[in-house]
Formats: sequence, C-alpha cells, structure tokens
Amino acid sequence: MGNQEDLNDRLYFKQLLAGMDFAESDGVAAQMLNLAYLIGDKQTKQAIIVDPAYDIAGILGVAEADGMEVVGALGTHYHADHVGGSLMGYEVSGVAELLEKRDVPIHIQESEVPWVSRSTGLGPSELVGHSGNDTISVGEVEIELIHTPGHTPGSQCFLVGDKLIAGDTLFLNGCGRTDLPGGDADQLYYSLVDRLAKIPDSTTLYPGHLYSPESSDSMERVRRNNYVFRPTSIEQWRAMFSG
Ligand SMILES: [Fe+2]
Repeated sequence: MGNQEDLNDRLYFKQLLAGMDFAESDGVAAQMLNLAYLIGDKQTKQAIIVDPAYDIAGILGVAEADGMEVVGALGTHYHADHVGGSLMGYEVSGVAELLEKRDVPIHIQESEVPWVSRSTGLGPSELVGHSGNDTISVGEVEIELIHTPGHTPGSQCFLVGDKLIAGDTLFLNGCGRTDLPGGDADQLYYSLVDRLAKIPDSTTLYPGHLYSPESSDSMERVRRNNYVFRPTSIEQWRAMFSG
C-alpha cells in the first residue's frame, strides 16, 4: 500500500504486554515483560501475530474479540520468550501451539530456521524462511522483513508504514544481549547503524520487551538518547561491550 494515509485507514495494530494483555496469570510472562503485536488489515479483517508466546489462546482471543482472523505469525528470533520453547527449564507455549490451533505460515529469517526448529520442536518445513527485505502482505497491509543479525543470527525487524517492530535488536534504551548462542556483537553494531539506517527518525520504535517506562518512542529520540548509538565506530562499540 503506497501512502501512509491509506495505510492508517486500514492498519490494525496492537501492542500486547505479556502478563497483562495476555498470559495474565503467568508469573514468568509478567516477569519477562515481553511485548507481542497484532498487525492486520481492518478491511479484510485479517491479522498476523508477532512473537506468539506464553498464551496462544489469549492472543488469538484478543484478535478475535476485534473480529480479526489470525492468518499467520512472524517471529523476531528463536528465543523461547518470543516463539516458545524451554526457558530456563520452564516450557513456554509458542508457534508450535499456534500451529495446533491454526494452520498458518510462520515467517522467520532463513538463517533462523534451524534455531527456531530446535527451540520449538517444529520441523524446518513447518517454517517459512525469508531473506532480508522480503515483504509479506496481510490483506493490503505490507510488512517489510529486515534482517538484523547480532542478538541471534536471523533476528529480524518488521517495518509497517511508520512503525518498526524490533524484537530484541533494539530497545528504547539498550539492545539485546549478544552473549547467548548465535549472538554476535559486531553484527549487532552493523545492524543498528547500517541495516536500520534507512529507518526515518519519524518512525516509531516498538521493542520486544517493556524495559522502559514508555512502550514505544520515535527513532529520533531513541537515536539521540539510547547509549547503543553513542559509538561512532566498530572499535568504540567493541570497547563499550568489553568494558
Ligand atoms: Fe531474545
């Protein structure tokens, strides 16, 4: 969909806080402060879930209460608190449970397929692997998939109009850790300063966790205030991470 006004008329967009808007009785969900999202087209009444975890019935229920049919899911990365799996011995529901309830495509980056497969127990053929800059459509609403490795090999961000859903690649303050399996600090630097360079300052950042008082902010303010944008070279970035 070409212009922002048309998109605003059609865009269905919801940010859902784990432990509050779904998984209300799940203490782990509440502690992890995950943010899931629904993106859809109000006219076709179709929506996709970004990072379904903890309480699939609850997330489906939010969409269905709004009259939206869930037609797919997007995973930002393989960690259990985003797509399901074992989280420090605690079993988190996720895309595998979604597939039991709805036969829908699960969109992830190609390089994340083996990781999501291991985390969720789904076979690679049950996942749809994408390359960076692929676009998927929900009704007439287009979502661009931006490959932003670093937190994990196939971490991805989603751009829909003037909104960027960044998973654990970028928070309002800070960014995802890079010391977990598949993490790479240098790659995260280039993701933040190169691959996300095309995101305008006027875009609103929607992170994968509620780690700040506000749940979203403009990229202009995030670039100005978030310490991860302070280094001006990879050497400074490395020094910050090793210090
Ligand atoms: Fe993560």
